[in-house]
Amino acid sequence: MKKPIYLDYNATTPLAPEVIEAMRPFIEEHFGNPSSSHWYGNKPKRAVEKAREQVAGLLQCAPEEIIFTSGGTEANNHAIQGIAWAMRARGSHIITSAIEHPAVLEVCRFLAPLGFEITILPVNDQGLIDPGDVQRAIRPETSLITIMHANNEVGSIEPIAEIGAMARDKKIPFHTDAAQSVGKIPARVDELNVDLLSIAGHKLYAPKGVGALYIRRSCHPEKFCHGAGQERGLRAGTENVMQIVGLGRACALASQNLARHRTKMQMLRDRLFTAISSQVPEVRRNGPIEKVLPNTLSISFKGVTADGILDQIADEVAASAGAACHSDTVEISHVLQAMHIPDEWAKGTVRFSVGRMTTEDQIDQAAAAVITAVNKLWDEPGPIARK
Ligand SMILES: Cc1ncc(COP(=O)(O)O)c(C=O)c1O
Repeated sequence: MKKPIYLDYNATTPLAPEVIEAMRPFIEEHFGNPSSSHWYGNKPKRAVEKAREQVAGLLQCAPEEIIFTSGGTEANNHAIQGIAWAMRARGSHIITSAIEHPAVLEVCRFLAPLGFEITILPVNDQGLIDPGDVQRAIRPETSLITIMHANNEVGSIEPIAEIGAMARDKKIPFHTDAAQSVGKIPARVDELNVDLLSIAGHKLYAPKGVGALYIRRSCHPEKFCHGAGQERGLRAGTENVMQIVGLGRACALASQNLARHRTKMQMLRDRLFTAISSQVPEVRRNGPIEKVLPNTLSISFKGVTADGILDQIADEVAASAGAACHSDTVEISHVLQAMHIPDEWAKGTVRFSVGRMTTEDQIDQAAAAVITAVNKLWDEPGPIARK
């Protein structure tokens, strides 16, 4: 059976061939514990340190400022809980946004009944945060600001550098969840003015289950995982060497090819939108036109549901819904709700995300499948279209 065309790179990416090659010796041969002082520990230890340098190279920070984690979720948990507890004496007010990934919002929700006050900032209809809102939300007891670099659903790129400058001025630690941006757009910590930044390996052609947290030298979150002294004592546990090596290689690849990949993805994404919008009359694009990830296209089709479209194209294209159907209701994503996308559009929202492996041919085939599906659903009687 022919596989559907994969247009869901924001959900996860395949491993880059170079990443597989870099990992192979650590799967097949170099099994030693990096903490061992004998021969078997040497190569794994050096490999972990090389990977740390590669991640630091992409973010333009010092290798000592990187700790490895099990992914974006853990990095966010560590940053938010770690700073919340470390800053407790100063205050317990946290500022975040309504469009964060659950790996941020749920951490804040967990902290709320423990005595932390959470301010959740709104976004505009393009999914952008107003730095003025951040400024107005800051209080003497604000102990952390956490705002994502780029949104996973609509691709909006937030004004991180501006917010970071404000945070620094008030000496408030500033964290950004950069799971979706790293590898797609520049994410240099000094340009972004961030103190903590989360990375998820599987969004940039490294394996699932590995990530990293950048922690500025001047920033001291509580340790996340208690145990032996790995990762500067902040995250105990024997290092996941093979995956860390994969993440390092993926970051090195991203450093070398960022501009080229960015231009290609942008061209493919725009080709997809142009093809669809030229054939489907009632379609709208969500998110900003300029401040948006180069690979992300969130589009809404009026009068049909996202699940209806995805069902129709399931054999040809794999993409994600912005709204999910449950028996007779449709649950619209918290991001689209925060952007106040009208329900009749939001229900029919599909996210297409292209990647390095996407070809022009795939885009043309995917566009044709979507056009056929939407037109077919529009021709169906109401109940089917609204399935
Ligand atoms: C913005 C954002 N943050 C965090 C995560 C979670 O990362 P992980 O799957 O590595 O835990 C994701 C993954 O979908 C994401 O898109």
